[in-house]
Amino acid sequence: MSTTEKTSVVSGFYKLPIEKRREFVGQFANLSEDDMKIFSSCLDLTTADRMIENVLGTFELPLGLAVNFLINGKEYILPMATEESSVVAAASNAAKIARIKGGFSASCSEPLMIGQLQVLHLNDVVTAAQQILQHKEQLLTVANAQDKILVDLGGGARDLEVRILDSPLGHMIVTHLIVDVRDAMGANAVNTMCEALAPMLEEISGGKVRLKILSNLADKRLVKATAHFDKEKMGGEQVVDAFLESYMLASIDPYRAATHNKGIMNGIDALIIATGNDSRAIEAGAHAYAARNGRYSSLTRYYKDDDGNLVGEIELPMAVGVIGGAANMHPKARLCRKILRISTARELAEVGASLGLAQNFAALFALSTVGIQKGHMSLHAKNIAVMAGAQGTEIETLADQLVHDGKVKLDYAKELLEKIRKKVK
Ligand code: MEV
Repeated sequence: MSTTEKTSVVSGFYKLPIEKRREFVGQFANLSEDDMKIFSSCLDLTTADRMIENVLGTFELPLGLAVNFLINGKEYILPMATEESSVVAAASNAAKIARIKGGFSASCSEPLMIGQLQVLHLNDVVTAAQQILQHKEQLLTVANAQDKILVDLGGGARDLEVRILDSPLGHMIVTHLIVDVRDAMGANAVNTMCEALAPMLEEISGGKVRLKILSNLADKRLVKATAHFDKEKMGGEQVVDAFLESYMLASIDPYRAATHNKGIMNGIDALIIATGNDSRAIEAGAHAYAARNGRYSSLTRYYKDDDGNLVGEIELPMAVGVIGGAANMHPKARLCRKILRISTARELAEVGASLGLAQNFAALFALSTVGIQKGHMSLHAKNIAVMAGAQGTEIETLADQLVHDGKVKLDYAKELLEKIRKKVK
C-alpha cells in the first residue's frame, strides 16, 4: 500500500480475524516487524515498576481499531483501549457517515496550560495584585529558567494573570501562570515553574503562597471539530429532526448532559488511554468546561445546514502530550502513535475531538432511531452464549438466535443450547 493509496475505509473490518486486522494496520502505518510483535506483548514488569509504586503486575484492556476516519483531509485509523462493547463499532460507523460530506474539520489553539498560585494572608489584595503584575517580566524569567529545553523548543511561560477571589477565609489572590507546553501534556513543566515562583511571589505580594499546581480546566488549550452528516444516509430529514430533538435535552438538562458527555468521553478516553495520556485530566477538563456558563451542559452542538443535513460541532480542552510520561515509556502507547501517524500533541487533540464528536453522533443517532440496546446486544449475546456453555460455532448460532428472539438471558440461552445440541444429534 503506497502513501497515496492509503485509506482508512475497510469494509467488514470487524469480520476479519485478528491477524488480518493487524496486517492491515501494519501496512497502513508502515509498522516494522518489531512493532508488530508489540501487539502480542504485555507491558514488561521492569517498565511497569518504574511507572507506579508497589507494582504487582499489569492490567490489560482490549485494544481495538476504529476505521473510516477522515480528518482535515487525512486518513486515520484510531487505536482505542476500552472495556465497553459497541464503542469502537459506533465510532467507525459515524466516521463512515461523516466522510460522505468530507469528514471532520478540526483545529486547535496554542498548547497553553494554566498553573495556579494561591496567595493568602494579604492586608491589601488590590495593591498586592498590582505589585504582582508590575513584576510580571521578572516572574516569567524565573519560570522560564526552570525549563531550558521547553524554551529551546519554542515553548515556555508566556503570561501572568491575577484574579482576586472572595472566600470564607477572606480575600485571596490567584495568580495564573500561562505556559506554552508545546508537545507535552505539561503538568510537570507547569508544576515545577509554579513551585519555583512561590518564594518570589510571597516577597512581592507580602502574602503566603499555599497551592501551587496546574489547573485541569485547560480553557486556553481548546480543540474544535465539526462534521456534516448526510441526511439521506441518516434516513431522511425526519431522522435529522428526531436527532435534534434528542440533542435538545442535553443542551438544557444536566441529568441528560452528563450521560451525553459520558458518551463523548467513551471515545476520547479510549484514545487517550491507548496513547498513554492522562484520561482523568482530560475528563476533569471536559466536565469543568461543560459547566463554564454556570450550568452543566453539552460539549457538542447540532443544527441543520441549508440542505437539511446535520451539522455537529464539539469544543473542549484537550491537554494531551506525545512526549513524556507513559506516552514515552509504554511500548503500546508508542505503537498507537505510529498507527495514528501523528507527531504533535495538536494533531492528537484534533483526532481526539473528532472521535468525541463521532462517538456522540453515533449514540444520539442510535438513541433517536433503534435505541442503544440493539447494538449492545449482539456482543452481549455472545457473552451470554459462552456463559451458557456454548462452544465453537455454537456461540455464533446461539447468540444470533438470542438476539432474534429478543431474549438475551442466561436461562433462555441454556434452554436453547440444549435444543440446538439435540437438533445436531
Ligand atoms: C453509554 O456508554 C453511552 C451513552 O449512554 C451515551 C448517550 O446516552 O448519549 C449511550
